[in-house]
Amino acid sequence: ASYTIVEKDTCIACGACGSAAPNIFDYDDEGIASAILDGNMGIIAITADLEDDLMDAFEGCPTDSIRVSEEPFEGNPNKFE
Ligand code: F3S
Repeated sequence: ASYTIVEKDTCIACGACGSAAPNIFDYDDEGIASAILDGNMGIIAITADLEDDLMDAFEGCPTDSIRVSEEPFEGNPNKFE
């Protein structure tokens, strides 16, 4: 299983992730992204049917703000950095 979380401090609101994975990422009023399934905590596993979208978003983020791991992030985007 994969978990995902957005590092909001480096997100530049480019909008790519929500296009690639609209069921996983959405934006706040300023366009900063977050993972919608678990309030950007990175604790709910992404289902297999969304895995391709997730990897598209991961690879497409220009600032590497989307983190993906096989272990939960517990709310810390830099847990595995
Ligand atoms: Fe931000 Fe990257 Fe998405 S810059 S809007 S997290 S593609």
